[in-house]
Amino acid sequence: MEKLIITGPTPLKGEVKISGAKNAAVAILPATLLIDGICTIDNLPNISDVKISCNILESLGAKITRNNENSITIDTTNISSTFAPLDMTSKFRASYYLIGSLLSRCKHAQVGMPGGCKLGARPIDQHIKGFEALGATVDISSGKITASADDLIGTSIYMDIVSVGATINVMLASVLAKGTTIIENAAKEPHIVDVANFLNTMGADIRGAGTDVIKINGVEKLPGNSTYSVVPDQIEAGTFMLACVASRGDLLIKKCISKHLEPVTAKIVEMGANVEDIDGENIHVWCDARPTNVNIKTLPYPGFPTDLQPQMGVVLSTANGTSIINESIWESRFQYTAELNKMGAKITAQGKSAFFEGVEKLSAAPVYATDLRAGAALIIAGIIAEGQTEVYNLEHIDRGYENIEEKFRKLGAKIERVEE
Ligand code: EPZ
Repeated sequence: MEKLIITGPTPLKGEVKISGAKNAAVAILPATLLIDGICTIDNLPNISDVKISCNILESLGAKITRNNENSITIDTTNISSTFAPLDMTSKFRASYYLIGSLLSRCKHAQVGMPGGCKLGARPIDQHIKGFEALGATVDISSGKITASADDLIGTSIYMDIVSVGATINVMLASVLAKGTTIIENAAKEPHIVDVANFLNTMGADIRGAGTDVIKINGVEKLPGNSTYSVVPDQIEAGTFMLACVASRGDLLIKKCISKHLEPVTAKIVEMGANVEDIDGENIHVWCDARPTNVNIKTLPYPGFPTDLQPQMGVVLSTANGTSIINESIWESRFQYTAELNKMGAKITAQGKSAFFEGVEKLSAAPVYATDLRAGAALIIAGIIAEGQTEVYNLEHIDRGYENIEEKFRKLGAKIERVEE
């Protein structure tokens, strides 16, 4: 078993380059199943969720050439299977995109139940509602989701809940459907726009992604034969911005999209730290004094992202005053607070709210990542705490952050990965 050993406190200083977005990449990879041909994807993050996605695509008949650490060429001309087994799909959440993609391309999909971070109930009723509205029959039994259709016919689908996964999945299912599909009350996250841009580059006709109404005009086939570069990871960029504030550091965050980070920037400024948007793609963040308390409510984009809530929790655990976080997306996203309390934080989590009584400093302790973003938060906590923190359960962190300890080490953090 591997663990991280972090010796703090260290104010982070220097430059960090942001990788491609995990949540866009894990949707774009299954979306290649819609292409009857070849495509190249650049700026792919080198993370375990991407590796598993590629393994699944290969098991379905795709031919993948690895151009370098962050680029692959995929030939999906011959898809020979529509079955993705549970032992592969249960390793991550985004395996549910195989249903929309295979259904669209082959009119049949049999996909093991998805896994992913344990953040509470993660129903997929809105995905199923969308597939059924397009004319598919969906059955869930024996740990598998089976979807099939004679024909998929475009229609109007109103999402009862703003869901990233359901919006993308229904978009995937309707790209090759007959006629026009309209998704109303769609999610607006940057990765939804990125998946739509990818599909349009490959020959689809999708309009309105990034607004709450998306219109998909079905096309006969996606010829591909193009190259696409994955959007920078909004959550990774936000993680470094918050790590900078927590550590009272000074960072240049390179190759991100500042527009996607507005909800985080607004809160950082409200706490008394500084953010300078240099040119829309590079952000300078610095913090000279103890941040003041703020209240946060997580919301779908463009609200404050739930995927930055634990990292913000670390900042608030040492802010001046008491802050409240209200988590409105996931039932169980405060598990990290018990770990932070082992390090001297004073956090009371009750249902969907947590109260952060800011302490002057954290102290090192052995802590356990309960999910991906909790893991990122614990690394930040280790960087600002006095002494030697040990972070366990690194498999969660490796699912979504490329070279995380190397990136933090270049910023001055004393962090190493060791085998227990
Ligand atoms: C995506 O999950 C992300 N995962 C999550 O990131 C992120 O936290 C989440 O969106 C919200 O931004 C990927 O993109 C792979 P949802 P997803 O469908 O699509 C409810 C990370 O750390 N809901 O937008 O599964 C659901 O229970 C991960 O990178 C239904 O009720 O999230 C939740 O309360 C963790 N029925 C809310 O909607 C449905 O059919 C939003 O979920 C679907 C969702």
